[in-house]
Amino acid sequence: MQKSVWEKEYRNPKLVTRYDKPQAFFLRFLKYLKKEIKIHSNPVTVDFDGLKVLDLGSGTGRNSNYLAQKGAQITGIEISETAIRLAENRAKKLGVKVKYIKQSIGDKYPFAGESFDLVVDTTSSNSLNEKEREIYLSEVKRILKKDIDKTLTGSGNGIFFVRALCKDGDKNAKFLLKNNPGKEKDTYIMPDTGLIERVFSKEDFVETYSKYFEILKMEKTESYSTVGNKVFKRKFWLVVLSSKY
Ligand SMILES: C[S@@+](CC[C@H](N)C(=O)[O-])C[C@H]1O[C@@H](n2cnc3c(N)ncnc32)[C@H](O)[C@@H]1O
Repeated sequence: MQKSVWEKEYRNPKLVTRYDKPQAFFLRFLKYLKKEIKIHSNPVTVDFDGLKVLDLGSGTGRNSNYLAQKGAQITGIEISETAIRLAENRAKKLGVKVKYIKQSIGDKYPFAGESFDLVVDTTSSNSLNEKEREIYLSEVKRILKKDIDKTLTGSGNGIFFVRALCKDGDKNAKFLLKNNPGKEKDTYIMPDTGLIERVFSKEDFVETYSKYFEILKMEKTESYSTVGNKVFKRKFWLVVLSSKY
C-alpha cells in the first residue's frame, strides 16, 4: 500500500487530474454494459437505477458521482483522505448520495458476499503489491453476485471492469522497468512521485485474473498521461470480466 504517496499526490497533484467527469473509456464501457450485458431485464426509467456498484480507488469520485446521478447505489473505497473529501464535496454539490470508505483495496472488504452487481477498478490496483493483489482479487470475487439476481445483470453474474497499465508495446513502461525497477515482477518506481506501479503483459493479465474470473472482453488502448507538466503516451488494458465459476 502506498498511502502516503497518494495522499501527497492529492495535496499537490502531479499525476491525478482534477476533472470531475468520467473519461471517454468509462462512458464507452457503460454503453457496452447496457447494450451487451443487458443490465436490466425490465424497462427502467433511470439508466442504472438500483445497480449496486463498488468503485475501487474512487479518487475524486468522477465515476462514482456520475453513476450515482444515473440512479446507481455506489460505494467508493479510497485510501486518500483528501481525495475522499473532494469526492464527497462534489457529490454534495450534485445532490447525490455516495458512500465513500477510507481503506485500502488490498485489505479485506467490509461487505457481505455477493452484494454487488458491478465492481470497477479504473487504474487503481496497479499500485498494489503481489500480496495485496491476491486479497483484492479474492475479495472482488467474493462480493460480486453470482447468478442470483437476474433482474439486474441479465446474465445473473456480477461484472468486474478493470483498466490496467499495459506492458506490451509501451515504450515508457519499458524505459522505467529498465532504469527504475521495483522489487516485484514488472514494477517500476515513478521518478517524480516515488509511486510503484505494476504493468501487465497480455499473458500475465490473463493468467492472474483468470484464476478468479471469466474474461468477456479485453482490448488494448492508448492514451496520454500527464506527470507534472510532461505528457506521456501510455497503453492500457480495458477488460470486462464476469464472476462466473
Ligand atoms: C490513477 S487514480 C484513479 C482514480 C479513479 N479510479 C479514476 O479513474 O478517476 C488511482 C486511485 O487509487 C487510489 N489508490 C491507490 N492505491 C490504493 C489502495 N491500496 N487502496 C485504495 N485506494 C488506492 C489512489 O489514491 C487514487 O485515488
